[in-house]
Amino acid sequence: MARQQHFGWFLSRGFGPHGWGHPYYEWNYPWHRPDLYQQSVRDLEQAGFDLVIIEDALSLGNADTLDLRIRSAYGGPKHDPLLLAPYLFDVTEHIGIAPTVNPLAYSPYQAARQFATLQHLSDYRFGINVVTDVGSSRHFGAEPLAHDAAYDRAEEWLTAVRALWHSWGTDALIADPSTGHFADGSRLDPVRHRGEYYSFDGPLNALPFPSLGEASGTGTGTGTGTGSALPGDPVVVSPGGSGRGLNFAGEQSEVQLALASLDVASIRSYRAKVLDAARAHGRSAADIDILFVFKPIIVSSPEEAQRIVDASAHPSDEALLQVAAGQSSDLETDLTGLDLDRPVDPAIFGDHVSRGSIKGLLGAFDDFADATLRQLLTAKARLGRISERAGYVGTADEVADFIEELGAEADNDGFIFSGDLHPVTIHRMLDELVPILRRRGILRTSFGAGGLRANLRDF
Ligand SMILES: Cc1cc2nc3c(=O)[nH]c(=O)nc-3n(C[C@H](O)[C@H](O)[C@H](O)COP(=O)(O)O)c2cc1C
Repeated sequence: MARQQHFGWFLSRGFGPHGWGHPYYEWNYPWHRPDLYQQSVRDLEQAGFDLVIIEDALSLGNADTLDLRIRSAYGGPKHDPLLLAPYLFDVTEHIGIAPTVNPLAYSPYQAARQFATLQHLSDYRFGINVVTDVGSSRHFGAEPLAHDAAYDRAEEWLTAVRALWHSWGTDALIADPSTGHFADGSRLDPVRHRGEYYSFDGPLNALPFPSLGEASGTGTGTGTGTGSALPGDPVVVSPGGSGRGLNFAGEQSEVQLALASLDVASIRSYRAKVLDAARAHGRSAADIDILFVFKPIIVSSPEEAQRIVDASAHPSDEALLQVAAGQSSDLETDLTGLDLDRPVDPAIFGDHVSRGSIKGLLGAFDDFADATLRQLLTAKARLGRISERAGYVGTADEVADFIEELGAEADNDGFIFSGDLHPVTIHRMLDELVPILRRRGILRTSFGAGGLRANLRDF
């Protein structure tokens, strides 16, 4: 029997203009209304997916590159994904929803209260994708922290949020109509937090987990304001891939949204780093699912796969310009006006541009002097056959073979498919693949009770 795996969806362009730049935009779904997302999330639940993670960027970015970010809707506009979550919960029963949340934008008290509310409203299906980007600091009147300090702040924030969630003991809520006694104030921890980044008093004015002893029945408030995770809490997801990011995942997260090359050695190595960090913090492999970002191109036959792969070796200038537009937004540097047949001068990248993203543009080249912009973009546009383990283009059977192999050989926990949350994208990706994965026993066919954490712990 194949290893059962978890599947999720990363709404990679956030709560923004879905399908923009693709012909299917003209299905004319209003992206700013909930219907489009509701329809897609229902399909994902029907498919047996465990969760949807919603990307977010708080900011339109640097003032000098504003137009670049919005010209093709790569960086904005984006609405707040936290506020979309209740609409998605309303039309589903099992799937978890994890909007991206940056500690920069929420005080611990506000975060704890809003997230507790959403955890109750959703019957334990809420999660948060905790990110540490500091590029939006100026909108919040804060100085941008250094990379590792932003992780320190995120850790303090999460500990403080959890302490507030746990400020109610399980026996604080009495709710006995016969005595008229609703709650016992002596069972609440006052939570006086004095830290490096935050200073505030509790306890939290929100219903503790579990509510009135029902729901998953797994939560236990301690009334001691513990900052460690407890089973009734919202699920913590994290995407950071630096050493500090992987350590954060090992210590704090229940899902790591992992970005890596999808081969056995890379997956094993990524898993080992996160699991070593988890063990170092007294946790085990069972406490975290490491789910790899995956964006296959599923086609109807091996011949079609080959045609697409062959065509990708000779992209038109128009196709290269599209790649350049995406890269320009990520790099906050306009590449679209540069001469395709000259090398890029690295001096065009300001200090604010992530070194990782610049390395990503270079790809297999060592230095910008070694390649023209056309060569860099052509390498980015290059596709490969999944059956040859040279890329991600293949038939549904070939993609299922690949998924099964990584489960068996790399002990992979599962995948997060990435793309728009547009019904066309979802159907193209999943219509044929889901039945095949089910037949092989890789994808769940039903959900139990208990919410997102319970679903993640099912296998
Ligand atoms: C797959 C993936 C998804 C991410 N999604 C977001 C996001 O939605 N919003 C955001 O501000 N940062 C996002 N990030 C950035 C990270 O949270 C983090 O700020 C950045 O990766 C720096 O951390 P690192 O150096 O540990 O990777 C994402 C990163 C990865 C790898």
